[in-house]
Amino acid sequence: MKRGLFLTLEGVDGCGKSTQLAFLTEYLKQKGLDVLLTREPGGCAIPEQVRQILLNPENREMSAETEMLLYAAARAQHIAEKILPALEAGRVVLCDRYLDSSIAYQGYGRGLGEQRVRQINWYAQEHCMPDATFLFLLEVERSFERIRQGRQSTDRLEQEGRGFFERVDDGFHALAERETRIRVIDAARSVEQVWAELRQKADEVLEQWQDI
Ligand code: TYD
Repeated sequence: MKRGLFLTLEGVDGCGKSTQLAFLTEYLKQKGLDVLLTREPGGCAIPEQVRQILLNPENREMSAETEMLLYAAARAQHIAEKILPALEAGRVVLCDRYLDSSIAYQGYGRGLGEQRVRQINWYAQEHCMPDATFLFLLEVERSFERIRQGRQSTDRLEQEGRGFFERVDDGFHALAERETRIRVIDAARSVEQVWAELRQKADEVLEQWQDI
């Protein structure tokens, strides 16, 4: 059977990724594709429990290393239990965040360094890299505004200061320059304009996949 297609969506908090992900899921389903929508950290029972620990604002003592390892551990389970079986069954897997988030948030944001994050994650995802990644870029100033307007309570990571999110943003930019699988989307425009760009880029990726 033809291997499935693994797509991930990435971006800083408040970039509008969730709205666009809902559009993309619906769009792909309407095309008759068998879509699995999932997210990180989470996606199935054990990683969702790890998510509770990671995002709980009361867990102030968590070290950067523990945080990196917990994201990687959640990922290992998610891959084994959900992502790989779906890809082997030929499905289209749409994942809200993945390895690039660990590189940007833990590698750059927490200052652990990209190489360390890649090494640790190698154990978790040796053979499971996305075929394409849609990266939503938005100025830190704007994403901050959106986080503040949109939510009553913030999770542990969203409580970080501006410097942290600037480093995360630097990380995403660095990745975008180096990795050809990453397709950048300008998230500063209207929801409709962002969706038009995402749809066009998703169509290109689908065409390539269907041609194989
Ligand atoms: P979530 O509420 O799902 O954020 P969003 O809706 O913006 O995707 O929370 C996930 C948080 O976890 C988010 O702040 C990014 C962070 N994160 C990491 O720091 N490392 C990772 O590897 C992943 C997958 C997420």
